[in-house]
Amino acid sequence: MPIPAIIAKLQELATTHKDKIVFSTSFSFEDQLITHLILANKIPIRIFTLDTGRMFAETYRAMYDTSSRYDYNVQVYFPDNQAVENLVNEKGLYSFYDSVETRKECCFIRKVQPLKRALAGMECWITGIRAEHSPNRQTMQDWEWDADNNLHKFHPLLHWSTEEVEKYVRENHIPYNKLHDQGFPSIGCQPCTRAVAKGEDIRAGRWWWEDTSKKECGLHGK
Ligand code: ADX
Ligand code: SF4
Repeated sequence: MPIPAIIAKLQELATTHKDKIVFSTSFSFEDQLITHLILANKIPIRIFTLDTGRMFAETYRAMYDTSSRYDYNVQVYFPDNQAVENLVNEKGLYSFYDSVETRKECCFIRKVQPLKRALAGMECWITGIRAEHSPNRQTMQDWEWDADNNLHKFHPLLHWSTEEVEKYVRENHIPYNKLHDQGFPSIGCQPCTRAVAKGEDIRAGRWWWEDTSKKECGLHGK
């Protein structure tokens, strides 16, 4: 979908869903592009992020730069303190490396539960998902019904390529996560993300020790 069509669609959705529409950002290139379209065009869509407590310093910097540039505070959701304390005290700081189950348990506590709070009562959720991210994202539609969360989902950049997204961000001087300049095409939590080599898959650095088929954290499907 080209930029003018995305802006028109976001404006239309903001009018239809009023205060029941949200955009989730992880401050990646694609998310920053969408944040820019929302804030530069003053589209009334609330923007939130999930701070897992295990983010990179560079991600906080991107958050800070975004807030300064647009004079807007992205709403931050933290995990439940009791749940995190129980997890860390019982299983240690790195339980996610033990098995897919313990990794998903950490994602559930640090990401999925806070996401549920962020989406409660919402009718429409905008994301920066792109088809190039993974095989199951290739079969997605940019407008879909999310039965788990009982809302519509819109992925405006679904069919944009990595090069197109990056070019737009750089040409428009949009603040971005500097890890993107250091071999990190996809950025999640610090202990679960590594840089990738040239030619490697975009998400090869996410949960790199796991099977490709297991690489979802529960934000967008199992
Ligand atoms: S994940 O499922 O692997 O963690 P990915 O990094 O591909 O997600 O990002 C896809 C979309 O999910 C982002 O464009 C953003 O909308 C949302 N998202 C991912 N991580 C976060 C986060 N920490 N906070 C808010 N939204 C996020
Ligand atoms: Fe926990 Fe890693 Fe999931 Fe972050 S990505 S919530 S640290 S398992």
